[in-house]
Amino acid sequence: MVSTLFTEQVGIDYPIICGPMYPCSNPELVAAVSEAGGIGVVQPLSMVYVHGYPLREGLQKIKLLTKKPFGMNIIVEKSSALYENRMREAVQIALEEGCRFFITSLGSPRWVVEAVVPHGGIVYHDVTLRQWAEKAIACGVHGLICVNNRAGGHAGVLSPQDLYRELADFNLPLVCAGGIGNERDFAEALQIGYAAVQMGTRFIATTECREKMDYKQAILKAEESDIVLTERVTGIPLSVIRTPYVEQIGTKVGPIARFLLQHRLTKHWMRMWYGLLAVRRFKKVSLHGGSPTDYWQAGKSASHVRDVVPAGTIVRRFMDYLLRC
Ligand SMILES: Cc1cc2nc3c(=O)[nH]c(=O)nc-3n(C[C@H](O)[C@H](O)[C@H](O)COP(=O)(O)O)c2cc1C
Repeated sequence: MVSTLFTEQVGIDYPIICGPMYPCSNPELVAAVSEAGGIGVVQPLSMVYVHGYPLREGLQKIKLLTKKPFGMNIIVEKSSALYENRMREAVQIALEEGCRFFITSLGSPRWVVEAVVPHGGIVYHDVTLRQWAEKAIACGVHGLICVNNRAGGHAGVLSPQDLYRELADFNLPLVCAGGIGNERDFAEALQIGYAAVQMGTRFIATTECREKMDYKQAILKAEESDIVLTERVTGIPLSVIRTPYVEQIGTKVGPIARFLLQHRLTKHWMRMWYGLLAVRRFKKVSLHGGSPTDYWQAGKSASHVRDVVPAGTIVRRFMDYLLRC
């Protein structure tokens, strides 16, 4: 066991999170990381719309594979009442199934904190800048997922070092999200002062992840310069592997979409629209073979990922390296 503020709070052996990933988080991957002593985090939309499990059944599947803690991601962005109700229902189901660790993103985490704290739940919020951290802390979160400029998914703007410096004086456990591809990156993040790391890209290249081999191979081959930010998937810069398709359609949205994405009254609707398109696109290609129009999400950590191995091997490798350092 390696003890940090994070492992103590969440009750796990090692400071390693398999971050929530739409569409890559399948129950086997989440369970494998938890079973190895880290913690896997469920992405509820991915569980239901990509992997085809009603949420409770998906969580029960994880519980058949591991008795250890797992987490859940709640994207708390305000969009429709229907979406918010579904997220509230997801939190309720997660609590009933024994989940006590929640990662919130893209909005105010207050209602999640209020719902889970009476049950002994812990909430960490995704932040990219100090101003978002201040708001989340005012809502009572227990720690921060510090999303840096090397992350897969929606990348931040600051380097891991700068983001740590920005947030260290809050005296909350900080988790480094982004840029961790090998054991050296992991050890460096803990050396900076982070209480844990959250990885996405590294865990896609595992035997448990149900993504296509083409996608995993693209991660193995990618160098830093192959990772680009595109606004064309969700309207917010998203880190993807540069493929001929990405080059062909460009990485910027048009002026009207940009206006609607920035306007206070329309931005939530626009993001919901992009979200629905993403659900449709990934549902079509994720489980039924790829197409040249795939977006393959990955962070710059891809340049340090060189093999497809079981998720537990990654956790063990990282911990062996740390203990040898
Ligand atoms: C394919 C993919 C999908 C992701 N989807 C989500 C998501 O739905 N919710 C979320 O909070 N973070 C999401 N992330 C971010 C990851 O949880 C994690 O913070 C990030 O991948 C860390 O950077 P890394 O890819 O360099 O390890 C996603 C990342 C990837 C690569």
